[in-house]
Amino acid sequence: MNALASPRSAAAPSTAASLAGRVAVVTGAAGGIGAAICEGLAAAGATVAAGYNGSREAAESLAARLSVTSGQRHAALRAPVTDSAALATLAADVQARWDRCDILVNCAGTTRFVPHADLDGLDDALFDQILQTNVRGPFAAVRALAPLLRASGAGLVVNISSIAAVTAMGSNVAYCASKAAVDNLTRSLARALAPEIRVLSVSPGLADTDFVKQMDADWRDEQAGRTPLRRLAQPAEVAAAVLAAAVHLTFSTGAVIPVDGGRPLQ
Ligand SMILES: NC(=O)c1ccc[n+]([C@@H]2O[C@H](COP(=O)([O-])OP(=O)(O)OC[C@H]3O[C@@H](n4cnc5c(N)ncnc54)[C@H](OP(=O)(O)O)[C@@H]3O)[C@@H](O)[C@H]2O)c1
Repeated sequence: MNALASPRSAAAPSTAASLAGRVAVVTGAAGGIGAAICEGLAAAGATVAAGYNGSREAAESLAARLSVTSGQRHAALRAPVTDSAALATLAADVQARWDRCDILVNCAGTTRFVPHADLDGLDDALFDQILQTNVRGPFAAVRALAPLLRASGAGLVVNISSIAAVTAMGSNVAYCASKAAVDNLTRSLARALAPEIRVLSVSPGLADTDFVKQMDADWRDEQAGRTPLRRLAQPAEVAAAVLAAAVHLTFSTGAVIPVDGGRPLQ
């Protein structure tokens, strides 16, 4: 266990730079929610590896503009979650650069809108792509980074799930099933990887990313109207839940943290 690791004995840190010295790998970093998570972790003092698949330039520009509050050297690293060999390379790169990984945020995800009743519209290829990316991907990333996360002494995995896991309402049937599987993965891995690594799901409702902002305004208003708090989640609020998991919820594992404005209540 290295000098920074004291999760089971120390009080939760509470300063702005409470993750100083920690290294966080975020998959899907160039996406709307991933970027907000990287920004939150960097502002709290963590060094961020912004993982990308196709969006190399966006991830590099994100890494270049992240806060440096305690001398961190952020980087954009290739992290295609359906390619386990590439994830092994990622883990080796993280070890070579920083010799540690304390936090893994599995934020990469994929989907496409297919009405739930359109069974033929959800073909095998799309179904497999969604499950491979959204379910096998987080598992493969954990498998690749587990040795570093164990050595951290304060290892944390946060899987970005969705309320679609419980409402079964979302972009398509496979997406909803994939997020239910993610929450189940969270519980299995929390048991399997304890006590060295905590595993949590953060489960957003519809988030007001640039992508969602481009969608039909009436549809967005309808979604907000069906949410008890009468609005969509801000990406920064999803990031705040990840930070809470890292900084404050130090005796929580195997749990699903909703960031959904109470949507499943409606
Ligand atoms: N937006 C919402 O309303 C909402 C609500 C609930 C849950 N979520 C979940 O939140 C997460 C992020 O969503 P978002 O809205 O930020 O989506 P987004 O903007 O579409 O970003 C998704 C990210 O996933 C990455 N990705 C896709 N396939 C990948 C693969 N095979 N390997 C590695 N990375 C891959 C993409 O990387 P590249 O760009 O580098 O290819 C992209 O950066 C997802 O897991 C999503 O299911 C979103």
